[in-house]
Amino acid sequence: MIRETTQSDLEEVFNLIHSAFGDRSESDLVKQLISDGDVLINLLFESSGSIIGNVVVSKITMRPDLDLFCGGVAPISVLPHQQSFGIGSKLMAEAINKSKKIGMNALFVLGNPDYYKKFGFTVSKLKNDYSVEYFQELELTEGSLVNIKSKVTYANAFSNLE
Ligand SMILES: CC(C)(COP(=O)(O)OP(=O)(O)OC[C@H]1O[C@@H](n2cnc3c(N)ncnc32)[C@H](O)[C@@H]1OP(=O)(O)O)[C@@H](O)C(=O)NCCC(=O)NCCS
Repeated sequence: MIRETTQSDLEEVFNLIHSAFGDRSESDLVKQLISDGDVLINLLFESSGSIIGNVVVSKITMRPDLDLFCGGVAPISVLPHQQSFGIGSKLMAEAINKSKKIGMNALFVLGNPDYYKKFGFTVSKLKNDYSVEYFQELELTEGSLVNIKSKVTYANAFSNLE
């Protein structure tokens, strides 16, 4: 089942992120996002009392600020031996659902478009410091990103990532 991550889950969640990525950079990123108060959504997938998946959505800044409420999905992690069973897809679907529920206008993600297109993400034309091919967007309210000229920036913690 999918539920909100609580304080007492964090250590297990950090270990899970470490296992999924093979190093501590992404778990350190989540620690920093939490301590900076930049996390909007933090969900986990639990099965038989063990945490096997996690997804975080954090604050996005647009400059100029157009009063849009946007988030960046990252990281999304599933324990290596539990991958390819649809858990990542369920977490992403619920992250999108929750984002809509809390009134977000759009989500962004940085990653392989072949994976994220099934959730409706398309390569973004908005200015950003990350990538032309891999930076993707998903409107949650229709037309929210049409004709936007702003630059999109992830929360500060991302600037420490390689
Ligand atoms: C990405 C991740 C969360 C997907 O979780 P999952 O539970 O395996 O996802 P699903 O079962 O819903 O989908 C799996 C499918 O997506 C594909 N896929 C997974 N990661 C992908 C990627 N980075 N690019 C393209 N396709 C990818 C797999 O090939 C798999 O297809 P298959 O079942 O035909 O082998 C998981 O693979 C993971 O934790 N990876 C390591 C961390 C990572 O790279 N996270 C993404 C960047 S933030």
